Amino acid sequence: MTEVAPTAGLPPHCGDLWPRRGVGLAQRAAQFIGIDAVQLACSGTAALVIALTALHRRTGRRTVVVPAYTCPLVALAVAHCGLHLRVCDLAADSIDMDAQALARLCNHDTLAVAVTHLGGRVADVGAAIAVARAVGAHVIEDAAQALGARRDGRSVGLAGDAGFFSLAVGKGLTTFEGGILVTQDHELRAEFARVAGEVAPFRFGWELKRCLQLLGYHLVYRPALLGLAYGMPLRRALRAGNPVAAVGDDFSSTIPLHTLGRWRQAVAARAFARLPDFLETCSAQARRRRQRLIRIDGIEVFDDVEGAQGIWPFLMLRLPSEARRDAILRELWGAGLGVSRLFIHALPDYAYLRTLVGEHEVPNARAFAARTLSISNSPWLDDGRFARIVEVLERAAA
Ligand SMILES: Cc1ncc(COP(=O)(O)O)c(C=O)c1O
Repeated sequence: MTEVAPTAGLPPHCGDLWPRRGVGLAQRAAQFIGIDAVQLACSGTAALVIALTALHRRTGRRTVVVPAYTCPLVALAVAHCGLHLRVCDLAADSIDMDAQALARLCNHDTLAVAVTHLGGRVADVGAAIAVARAVGAHVIEDAAQALGARRDGRSVGLAGDAGFFSLAVGKGLTTFEGGILVTQDHELRAEFARVAGEVAPFRFGWELKRCLQLLGYHLVYRPALLGLAYGMPLRRALRAGNPVAAVGDDFSSTIPLHTLGRWRQAVAARAFARLPDFLETCSAQARRRRQRLIRIDGIEVFDDVEGAQGIWPFLMLRLPSEARRDAILRELWGAGLGVSRLFIHALPDYAYLRTLVGEHEVPNARAFAARTLSISNSPWLDDGRFARIVEVLERAAA
């Protein structure tokens, strides 16, 4: 059975693997994002740890506000830095935080507010900046899922004080695990480099492991083999009734911190040349398919807000009810068609985060978790397979 990847990853080429010299990853990333220089990191999470550590050294503040619906790694990064976490509910039916709730959560101890460009959609950074500035806090753009997304032609990640992108497996461009940290503030960038040198040194064992994983990825990232690496564990987790494991939300609280090795940088630097065209193709496919999906009764598909040009790793759908969403997932989640869920819970509802996050009333984040699903925007999901998904969605609507 062939398996569609749940997100649109840039297809790897064998030629990427040859150790040739050329323009480096940091330089390519800086050009693509439109900034003088970037700080590379071994993951998006590591980039966030570096940013938080640097900002904490600058201000001494200790509290970080994050959306109640985001990647659990964000909460783990805050805890790793010894900082206090506060979760902010989303606005109703939105990826953005509720501005009033955010204002209530921010005070003189707020170090930073994290704004998430979820699923490639461009979040309202301006609203968060307005609230954060009023209390002297910084804004960090979590663009882990949004490398290539722009607002008014300018990359996401540059409007706040700092921004980071993930190069983890499954993202458009990957070093198996990797991250890019940006800031326009030259002093802060120098501090990022200092902090990275201190907290994330070269570690041979980790780099060797990641190099082997990247090689393995090049080997199996194809429809005929992905079932082994992704589909089988997914279906096993679904059979065991463990959705958190099914989407890979079961993270360890130990965050690996090390450098992003030269060879992996070179692999990604070569692949970078194909990224703009790939994103363009994905965008055209997503727009076409979105038009088809929104004709189905009750289905909403998150789109770009005015002025935004997001990227499309997958289409994010919101269903009218959890029951209807779950009926669809029963047929499609394990079917190898790239239908999946985003993060399973709002942050307070992960059992393993309970002591760290605490109890909170976050009804909109919970509704988001309960009523959304994702459809891969991978080119492997051809029109025939997409039609099978549409058929199930239409049946559920009837
Ligand atoms: C919204 C968000 N933030 C942060 C991260 C962490 O990035 P990484 O997996 O590169 O550590 C992810 C990972 O998927 C994410 O989706």
